[in-house]
Amino acid sequence: METLFTEKEIQDAVARVAEALNADYRDEHVLVIGVATGAIVFLSDLMRQLQMPVHLELVRAKSYRGSDTRPGELDIDLWGLEEGDIRGRRVLLVDDIFDTGRTLETLSQRLLAHGARDVKTVVFLEKPDRRETEMLPDYVGLRIPDRFVVGYGLDFDGRMRNLPYIAAMDEG
Ligand code: IMP
Ligand code: MG
Repeated sequence: METLFTEKEIQDAVARVAEALNADYRDEHVLVIGVATGAIVFLSDLMRQLQMPVHLELVRAKSYRGSDTRPGELDIDLWGLEEGDIRGRRVLLVDDIFDTGRTLETLSQRLLAHGARDVKTVVFLEKPDRRETEMLPDYVGLRIPDRFVVGYGLDFDGRMRNLPYIAAMDEG
């Protein structure tokens, strides 16, 4: 495995994202929705640097694959989040990575259909070469080439989410 980003580089990137969000949202009330499971490590670091009033919710997205790069079946569960929680709200959708973009595009559409006032996406990593959507992520921590990465919430077959750094598993 090759380390791509150290803990220090990760924390610097989180701080930059938080600064941009604090500047853009100021005193506005925001509904932060983390996409479990991968987002929770980034979410926990980011949350504590947000200065505007926030509500926090989690939804779950599963795209079935190991290190397989083909996007598998997408299974989204709103985990009890109801229309009443979403209607009229400014939503920040937080995920670990924007790969093909299908997860965040699908989720954004669902939240807008439930009456969200607007939905912006915040991702720790982006693989610009893999994007298959019209939609772009609104806030990005770090951009990476098309490599399979683990750590800082990202898994290979459910493992290695706990690594405090980000590493590439493939040959590069
Ligand atoms: P998307 O819908 O293709 O953007 O995929 C998003 C999801 O795919 C992420 O939330 C991750 O769970 C998974 N994913 C994409 N690339 C990687 C990677 O390099 N390592 C681990 N998981 C990944
Ligand atoms: Mg994930």
